[in-house]
Amino acid sequence: MVPQRRSNGTTDSHAGGPARPLSSEDVAALYDGLAAQYDRWDWANRLFSGPLRKRAFADAGGRVLDVACGAGTNFRYLPPTAQLVGVDISDEMVEAARDELDAIGRGGTVYRMDAQALQFPDDSFDTVVSALSTCTFPDPVAALSEMARVCRPDGRVLLLEHGRSDVELVGRFQDWRADAHYERHGCRWTQDPLAHFEAADLTVVESESFLLGMITVIEARPGSA
Ligand SMILES: C[S@@+](CC[C@H](N)C(=O)[O-])C[C@H]1O[C@@H](n2cnc3c(N)ncnc32)[C@H](O)[C@@H]1O
Repeated sequence: MVPQRRSNGTTDSHAGGPARPLSSEDVAALYDGLAAQYDRWDWANRLFSGPLRKRAFADAGGRVLDVACGAGTNFRYLPPTAQLVGVDISDEMVEAARDELDAIGRGGTVYRMDAQALQFPDDSFDTVVSALSTCTFPDPVAALSEMARVCRPDGRVLLLEHGRSDVELVGRFQDWRADAHYERHGCRWTQDPLAHFEAADLTVVESESFLLGMITVIEARPGSA
């Protein structure tokens, strides 16, 4: 696929969408298969992303929803007072997340649920968090809109996202491997993590980039600016 130029001057080989877009069912099956690998490499994941998860989520308060919680890697970085609910579309990830709650001795509930059609009432969470997820949603605007809907109007949506590096050499490597990475992980790793907030009726309050621009910590609130 020929990389396309984004308005910010970077390129995105998935600007027109991946060659073979995955459905939610495809993504669920893929992550069912990846769950054991996530478990094996959990220590490395936390070593690399733990400080950033802490930065992004340490002051998440009240009733907290972790969308696409995976194996529950965020859970230990949320304040102990948070009332935790996690959702993920992969059965195996849901099992792993429940195990993580047991392992760290925390209360909470984890459901199998599609982030694009959350089965919660409007305004039912004080804080919505999500990590490394918008790149895997078949329809990221739908999932972000659902996060906005279930978050209280005065609540916060906190995300830790990843995308194409600001460092051109690294970005070009990501462009080169974009299709292979998507096939393997269902992940659009050349995405612009801030691209879909406006369409999802979320206002970005603050965003900060780390690790050569590949990781972005985002604070948003429901509603338009
Ligand atoms: C890269 S993993 C990140 C997991 C976890 N948030 C973390 O930081 O380690 C992406 C996760 O998104 C989940 N996911 C993808 N599409 C989803 C959807 N439509 N609804 C709910 N979960 C979804 C996958 O099953 C997977 O667990």
